[in-house]
Amino acid sequence: MGSKAVRAAITSISHYVPPEILNNQFFETQLETSDHWIRTRTGILERRIARTGGTSDLIIPAAKKCLEQRGIASGEIDCIIVATVTPDYVFPSTASIVQAGIEASNAWGFDLSAACCGFIVAMSIASSFVESGSARRVLVCGADKMTSITNYEDRTSAVLFGDAAGVALVERSEDESVGVIDHLAHMDGRFTNQLYMPAGGSVKPASYETVANREHFLVQDGSTVFKAASKEMAEVTQEILQRNGLTQEDIRWFVPHQANRRIIDAVGERLGLEDDRVMCNIQHYGNTSSATIPLCLSEWMEKGELHKGDNVVLSSFGAGFTAASMYMRWAISPKLEPAKVENAFVYAEAAD
Ligand code: ACO
Repeated sequence: MGSKAVRAAITSISHYVPPEILNNQFFETQLETSDHWIRTRTGILERRIARTGGTSDLIIPAAKKCLEQRGIASGEIDCIIVATVTPDYVFPSTASIVQAGIEASNAWGFDLSAACCGFIVAMSIASSFVESGSARRVLVCGADKMTSITNYEDRTSAVLFGDAAGVALVERSEDESVGVIDHLAHMDGRFTNQLYMPAGGSVKPASYETVANREHFLVQDGSTVFKAASKEMAEVTQEILQRNGLTQEDIRWFVPHQANRRIIDAVGERLGLEDDRVMCNIQHYGNTSSATIPLCLSEWMEKGELHKGDNVVLSSFGAGFTAASMYMRWAISPKLEPAKVENAFVYAEAAD
């Protein structure tokens, strides 16, 4: 924290979502649910689904675009970090598959399991590598094919998740006034069973029984997660603001993990932030786990709404339970002129 001689910064960011849309009407035909319930209780209107391929197939197009925007060749990447809970395989790492896919022949890499906090945790590691000089260019990939672990027979979780990838290039900042300034994370490991995938790991390897019991899908205690996420995301944000001598007035963009519109609103309210300073695109993508935060950043760059020098605070909460935040001063300018941010408060309009 505080001032650093070398600062790491995001110098390019991009995303990829598969083209197929699953709207709320789809769930009305499959489960005892309604478009109205989903909108009003979650804020989600639609999400994306990749019918084929793995998480690497979401990352590779985003990674290629990320490098192209920056104008550097894949051979110039030193390290690839993939934050995901839906790796292509248990091993080898999805990072190695991405490395081959983008022909980053000089890069090593690894996967990181920090659930919905994955992007922030991966960004802190990448920043430390760059600041210490052990890597010059790190590709940070937050990606999940959540539909591969979603139980479409469970209405309480099926409607929440979608597939996406976000990729950030982290490099040494030329300008010391911008880049990653601080990050923090907390963990409380007593809540394993409140949010997890029961089988497929070493405790319960795959068997006929685990498949028959549908234990290879995400299981959650929604209301416990809801309450903890609303509290913890606000608290880690307050903590990072406080230790950097900032108030909420100093935040240009707050970028919360997108799990439920009501969680985002509750956190925004606790922090005293108006909607026009809170990134929200959950209406279009649902919860894409590690991808939600880079997906927001990338979309806001495309809209021309994120500018060099903006104070940006990331905040997330997820399985573990884990909570993490990051404070950065945005380092790049958008190519486009500012456009109207489509950040409509969709679920309230849908309410009776
Ligand atoms: N359609 C219709 N009714 C539903 C649906 C649905 N899709 N899902 C749940 N219900 C019902 C419940 O069965 C319950 O009915 P009952 O009263 O007859 O028992 C009723 O709605 C209310 O259930 P609650 O669980 O109290 O509903 P809530 O408003 O809390 O919303 C939800 C549930 C959306 C799961 C919410 O708790 C949530 O978003 N939690 C966070 C979960 C999460 O984000 N997990 C993701 C991974 S971690 C992360 O990203 C932070």
